[in-house]
Order: sequence, then structure tokens, then C-alpha cells
Amino acid sequence: MNYPDYRPRRMRRTENLRRMIRETRLAPEDFIYPLFVVPGSGVAKPISSLPGQFNFSVDKAVEAAQQAADLGIPAVILFGVPEKKDSVGSEAWKESGIVQKAIRAIKKARPELVVMADACFCEYTDHGHCGVIVDHNGTKEVDNDQTLPLLMKQAISFAAAGADFVAPSDMMDGRIGAIRTALDAAGRTDVQIMAYAAKYASAFYGPFRDAVGSAKTLSGDKRTYQMDPGNTDEALREVELDIAEGADMVMVKPGLPYLDVVQRVKETFGMPTFAYQVSGEYAMIKAAAQHGWLDGERAMLESLIAFKRAGADGVLTYFAPRVAEKLAKS
Ligand code: PBG
Repeated sequence: MNYPDYRPRRMRRTENLRRMIRETRLAPEDFIYPLFVVPGSGVAKPISSLPGQFNFSVDKAVEAAQQAADLGIPAVILFGVPEKKDSVGSEAWKESGIVQKAIRAIKKARPELVVMADACFCEYTDHGHCGVIVDHNGTKEVDNDQTLPLLMKQAISFAAAGADFVAPSDMMDGRIGAIRTALDAAGRTDVQIMAYAAKYASAFYGPFRDAVGSAKTLSGDKRTYQMDPGNTDEALREVELDIAEGADMVMVKPGLPYLDVVQRVKETFGMPTFAYQVSGEYAMIKAAAQHGWLDGERAMLESLIAFKRAGADGVLTYFAPRVAEKLAKS
């Protein structure tokens, strides 16, 4: 570049000039708000490692979803913490399950709000892994093909309750195809799938595991099914498979540490591409802000615009209501 008279700083002199040439913007429709639903009523139990987030009973989850909708947020994603956990997570596909109840109640209160249900078993199993555990020659492993039929049951049950989207986060091979087949066979060709397509085995899920109660019970880690943080070509293969199997939206998770993956996925496939700013990312910003070590509100906005700059169509984030509120005031 050889423009001796070009002085970029001139365009940064005032806020109106900066606004005029800003390439990326945030809007309430960029966000999907995750909610943790627990049994009971009138429950809003703070999650200590996720300041400002709660374990909500269904009635309180409805209130939170309504507040989000009033702020212009188009979608929520639900995670359930059942009363009883067992080895296969059988609460996950019950008609009376906690997420099924929450879906029905939220759709009744706000039919236009897009309701997504996270399909996985780690919140429902007593061992905290995302699928069925078997013994392979003395080693305990999550069995891919025994998990698929259970995911199919869970997906059908979420659809029957009224979910708009099933969002599988288990990372089993072939799950998108299995879920699509199950939904279609149940006559639910209308229900969509958001695939956690490139989900990494990450240390940043810590506070989430506190929120769903799997932190204490989980033995070992999830590296035999979640992706290795060193890989990006593999992420493209994972995403391609999920699209081929019928995913409507693809997601990369965690978020900020994997923006290179977000950018490659968006550029390669041009699909609706979302990123999950996970619990640990949120907790880091909140904790530092609580110490007065950084300006939490500015860090929130800066982290979120980074997702858009990388090409994400939207972000799953615990900041969703807060940022939407902030945007409404600005
Ligand atoms: C379930 C699931 C996890 C998250 C979303 N779905 C945890 C995990 O894989 O252990 C993490 C979300 C977050 O950290 O905010 N499989």
C-alpha cells in the first residue's frame, strides 16, 4: 500500500465519524440466550460460577424468556437438570421431563420466540458423560451407536413438546442424520436442527458443569468424543458431515478461542453459522470485572463484536439480555 496522504485517524475523530464507517454491528437478533431449568416452582438459584445466571424452575424460566423476548432476543436454548439422574439419562426423553415442560410453558407464553432444546445426556446421566457408557476390554467408553437411538427418542420428545429446534451437543458420529431421520419419521419435517458441529474438548465448560451438576460426578474428560483443540481441518470435516446429514445451522464451540474456526466454517460453507460464548468465557469477564480489573460492559461488547467480525451470524451467550438492554439504550 502506498498512499502517502492517507490518514486513517482522521476518520476516528468523533463518534459519528466512527459510526459512519463501522463495518460490524450488534443487534438483539444476534443473540441466543441459554437457560438452565430445574424442578420446583419459584426457584431462581444463582449459579455461583456464572454471576448473574440462575437455575430456574419452569415458571421462572418463562419469566426470563419473556424478558429476553421483550428485549428483542429471537431465541432461547434450554438445558435441563432433572430430579433423578441414571446411567443412561432416561429423564431426557420423558414427556414429563423438565425441558419438555419448559418448552411447553415458554411456547404457550410466547409462541413467536424460537425455542431450542439442547440434546445430550450429560445433564441427565449420573456419570456426567454425553452418552451410554460401555466396557470395552476393561476400558470404560462412551458408545457411539448405542447413544444414537436415545438421542432420537430425546429429539422426538422435544419436538412433541413444541421445540422449534433440536440442538445436539453430544458429538457422536452420525447423530444429525439419526435425529433428522427420527424427526421426519415422526412427521416433524418442520423441526430444525442446530448442530454443535465443531465442539472442542475444552476447559472453558467448567461453570456450565457446575450449573448442571455434572462437575462433581464426571470422571475423566470428554476427549474421546469432543474435538482436539489443535485441529481446524477436522472442524471443516465435522461441519461438512453435519450439513450433509441435514443440519440447518452449524455452531462452533467454545467461541473466542476458536474464532479462526468460525471464520473458516463461514467462508467454506456459507451456512448460518453460530458460535457459543461458553460459560468459562463469560465467567472470566465477570470475575475480572468484579475485581475491578477490567470494564465488564466494554469487554462484553468487544467480545461480542469479535464474533460478528469473524463472520458469525449469531452468538449463544449468557450476556444476551444484558447486551440487548445496552443496545436498546444506546
Ligand atoms: C452438553 C453441553 C455442554 C455445554 C453445552 N452443552 C458441556 C459439555 O460438553 O461438557 C457447555 C456450555 C457452556 O460451557 O456454557 N454436552
